[in-house]
Amino acid sequence: MPEHGTPPTQIEILAMDAETLELEVQRHDALYHEHNQPEIPDTLFDLMVERLRQLRPDSPALLRIGGLDPDASHDNAASPDDAEQLHTGDKVRHSVPMLSLEKCYSEQELLRFFERIEDDAVATPKVDGVALMIRYDHQGRLLLGATRGDGRVGEVITENIRRVQGIPHHIDTPGLEVRGEAYLPLSTFRQRFAEQFANPRNLTAGSLKQKDPQRTAEVGLRFIAYDVLGSDEKTETDKAALLERIGFTPAPGSRCTAAEGQALFDRLSTERASLDYETDGIVYKAHTVARHAVLGTTAHHPRWAIAYKYQGESGITRFADIEWSVSRTGAINPVAIVDPVSLSGVTVQRISLHNLGIIEKLAGQPLTIGDNDAYPLSSGARLLVTRRGGVIPHVEELMEPGSNTFNIPTTCPSCGAPTERREDLLMADHREDCATTGQRRLRHFADVIDAEGFGPKLLAQLYDNNLATEPADLYRLNRTDLISLERMGEKSADNLLAAIEARRTLPLDTFLAALGIPGLGRTLARTLASRFRTWEHLRNASREELIAIDGIAEVLADGLRQGFEDLTPVIDNLLGVVQLTEVEQESPASGPLDGQSFLFTGTLETMKRADAQARVRTLGGTTPSGVSKDLTWLVIGDADLEKFRAGWRSSKLKKAETLRDSGEGPEIIGESRFLALLEVAEA
Ligand code: IVH
Repeated sequence: MPEHGTPPTQIEILAMDAETLELEVQRHDALYHEHNQPEIPDTLFDLMVERLRQLRPDSPALLRIGGLDPDASHDNAASPDDAEQLHTGDKVRHSVPMLSLEKCYSEQELLRFFERIEDDAVATPKVDGVALMIRYDHQGRLLLGATRGDGRVGEVITENIRRVQGIPHHIDTPGLEVRGEAYLPLSTFRQRFAEQFANPRNLTAGSLKQKDPQRTAEVGLRFIAYDVLGSDEKTETDKAALLERIGFTPAPGSRCTAAEGQALFDRLSTERASLDYETDGIVYKAHTVARHAVLGTTAHHPRWAIAYKYQGESGITRFADIEWSVSRTGAINPVAIVDPVSLSGVTVQRISLHNLGIIEKLAGQPLTIGDNDAYPLSSGARLLVTRRGGVIPHVEELMEPGSNTFNIPTTCPSCGAPTERREDLLMADHREDCATTGQRRLRHFADVIDAEGFGPKLLAQLYDNNLATEPADLYRLNRTDLISLERMGEKSADNLLAAIEARRTLPLDTFLAALGIPGLGRTLARTLASRFRTWEHLRNASREELIAIDGIAEVLADGLRQGFEDLTPVIDNLLGVVQLTEVEQESPASGPLDGQSFLFTGTLETMKRADAQARVRTLGGTTPSGVSKDLTWLVIGDADLEKFRAGWRSSKLKKAETLRDSGEGPEIIGESRFLALLEVAEA
């Protein structure tokens, strides 16, 4: 049996006997569900379960995984009806067990599921977060929130759950229990945590267990609901509508027949990359709730639902080299350069290793600066790599060690400042002119303001030629400067000048997010902009004024003030060249589109969705986030219009059509019609 802590390889799993598999499956299941400390990726766990199912289909371990342990004793667990006496950390017995899902991997298996349910299904993304239950009392007040625990008994974390976005503290339908997944948006993870944490799920689990609820609030967790108990809704569609009505975000669902099941899976798999959370498959549930009762459950999973899992696309490749990249925050982070490997259709060659701690975990051996002994993670090592959530390349495990050295730089590769290890990070007190820090800032700025054509290569060229070393310089570029660059034609130079000119006026929130202050992402920027309206107000805001804002804790408030101060020269230079616009008042601007709302679906050909929304809003229109009976227009990108005409429907489109059938809901239009509407409105 493999040693604890060292993940087995795929080959090793296939070689295990049934007894070993039983023990390993139970151990890893407990690590995942009870301790929230998985040691192996889901793909490997699934492989173990599959193999055990082949070798010993009646193994009791199969009944237990992620389900109910028949032997577990929970003498001290309270009933959720005693919620008033329950405190954080107490155990609570779920009124209805929170089960696992049966898994499948092929169309055949999916069809077998449809045969069993004899019903349509509703398909929703399987959110890879942390399962929670939330109870409301007879007056609709949030009374109790708990983790899934072992499925039978969970842990009370009510105060932390109140700090998760998307969980209403009050609902107008009393006595319900809502279940769903808490998750950390991928955008937040990438922006604020990717350097220090291995994955969003662990961070989510960790933040939900914080002793101080304010710490939970700071992370920015969200919630997607997939079930509601205690209502007499007849179908999954009605349940989703109820969840939405009481203020939750239901998992986006599409209804389908057996014949449509696979095509829907294919389509949702391609949409996966555009979701702001990690998913590991699609959950199909029998549409009619009455069928659930007839079908019943096993000890492990309901028989009316199945998870069609994505083939965790993984590959094995050779570790070639390590590159050190200086981040905006000054940490010097390791990036693995690997032999090109194709993962879900994309060739991956550079994979962030995040920080020193993660390297040590992969290698199972501590690292020391300036140590020149052979290290397991070194050139020649073989790595199992995946794209997490189908998107972010990730090193899952070290399959075969290398026998070379792994050298941590003793100075910043860019400015030469001496490095030192602070916890898991390699840090340096960078010199003022540290090129990479400056370049990063420039890149981040160009990225956030969406300056077309200003990619990393060009920015590096501009930086190296001293043409742009800080954001303000971008606005001072001229044609001669640009043409002087290698491989730059007149036409490209003019396009670049036009692109930057188009960004000379910036909404305050874009400006703030573009500064690259740690913790100040787009969401917080929007909150700050709408609260303080002008840069002057915000710059003069006191610590107390900042802390008074929901979601800003003391640490963050101090970080913001420090960030503004540190960047004074950069900001002042920028203010000399850009014009800031106030963000609209909460009540929408008034204009020719007053009273009209626009929702977009699919990719727009002529402009970015965010720009389309901004134009609508400046003309007095609103841009809600979902289809409702009050929506005026649903705009389909021209790319999807063809598919729409051929019969394809996204969930937004389906909902819109259903509403239209009853005489309400939006008019569905293509992009060209939308442009024509804008033209008239702007005339
Ligand atoms: S339906 C089992 N829908 O996946 C009861 N579950 O691996 C019916 N999950 O325990 C659950 N996304 O916590 C459902 N769209 C979704 C889901 C989902 C994630 C979780 C859920 C379940 C686990 C099983």
